[in-house]
Amino acid sequence: MTRLTLARDKIRVLLLEGVHDSAVATFAAAGYGQVERLDGALDRDELAERLASAHIVGIRSRTQLDGELLRGASKLFAIGTFCIGVNQVDLDAARLLGVPVFNAPYANTRSVAELVIGEIILLQRRVPWLSALAHAGVWQKGARGAHEVRGKVLGIVGYGHIGSQVSALAEAFGLQVRYHDIEPKLTLGNAQPCTSLDELLTISDIVTLHVPATELTQGMIGANEIARMKAGALLINASRGDVVDLDALAEALRGGHLSGAAVDVFPTEPTSAAAVFSSQLQGLDNVILTPHIGGNTEEAQEGIGREVADKLIRYSDSGSTQGAVNLVEVSLPVQRDRTRFLHIHHDRPGVLAAVNRAFSSRDLNIAGQYLRTDGQVGYVVIDVHGQAEEGAEIKAELEAIDATIRVRFLF
Ligand code: NAI
Repeated sequence: MTRLTLARDKIRVLLLEGVHDSAVATFAAAGYGQVERLDGALDRDELAERLASAHIVGIRSRTQLDGELLRGASKLFAIGTFCIGVNQVDLDAARLLGVPVFNAPYANTRSVAELVIGEIILLQRRVPWLSALAHAGVWQKGARGAHEVRGKVLGIVGYGHIGSQVSALAEAFGLQVRYHDIEPKLTLGNAQPCTSLDELLTISDIVTLHVPATELTQGMIGANEIARMKAGALLINASRGDVVDLDALAEALRGGHLSGAAVDVFPTEPTSAAAVFSSQLQGLDNVILTPHIGGNTEEAQEGIGREVADKLIRYSDSGSTQGAVNLVEVSLPVQRDRTRFLHIHHDRPGVLAAVNRAFSSRDLNIAGQYLRTDGQVGYVVIDVHGQAEEGAEIKAELEAIDATIRVRFLF
């Protein structure tokens, strides 16, 4: 196993906000012996104090890591956000400190896709309405208005991670999949692209939205687009709250142009369970309302724990920044019989020459060199043959280069 400048059992990993057991297990399996997990978030003073001694920190969405906190965390070399979002971290400040931030953007993809498939079937059978009636003591039996999903046209808007998973699952149920995306996409199975959003809206029995929040997608489905949908069609939105005009949707459901909808995301969402949720869709018969839980499953949490811990370990063990959201991504070969130096620096002329001098002046042959820069911060990884006896000395020389932000070596 590669040895690190700081041995694995000395690397202090602090996990906050009840990060999943899978993260702790992943660190333990990789030989990291000092992993501390706390159930909650910390107040600012305690956080600053704990960060001062942590090498790796893992948070979820409640911990805010701003520039001041990060600058005070002198030992910190990597951050994991054990969730999808990363805007709770000052990514620029972390980058300028040479601290990569890793997240798990797609660990809950399957959970969202499964929910959408379930909703399609329930809406086609009018289950939200029938279930509410049964709860109220009404036995409403009959086939009118209830449909199989087999053979129906499912229009997927946004054929990315979630959209394409929905596509694969939907085909297994016999749906005919059509999709619209602004980028060319690799089509799965028998799905077919549409020439435009308008085409998709006019041919689909069910439309499901899986686009990101951008200027183009804000208000993407309003009264005009809904009017273009087939009479009796269904609309599902588990993407972002401001993609659909909910007034227009409520109107189309009340007027009977659409026969049902499932909505998981809203323009304004309560920030806690204590706050009251209100929406113009409440009280409508065949509408499933869910509190932004598309990606919330135990499996997704477990996946996030494993994925983020893996990325942090790969960075710590090998220097790989693959999956970092704020630092150039460098994917590295497995290091065998080599000493590896990792140098994060301000991107200025002459840095590489100074770095290389530390090796050439010692007659050390460079076996591999990997460099990426974003114009402001650069990351160069240098492999030299054998175990460089002068590792600590070279590290000190690299640290003395004016533009250096951070240096580590692995042997
Ligand atoms: P992704 O980035 O993999 O896919 C998005 C796709 O939409 C891309 O293929 C992109 O080219 C396409 N796209 C962008 N603008 C478009 C436009 N104007 N018209 C058509 N296509 C367009 O994203 P992913 O992971 O599939 O997520 C999709 C959405 O789901 C995001 O908004 C995300 O925030 C949301 N989401 C919701 C969750 C929930 O709990 N309900 C959980 C996870 C994600």
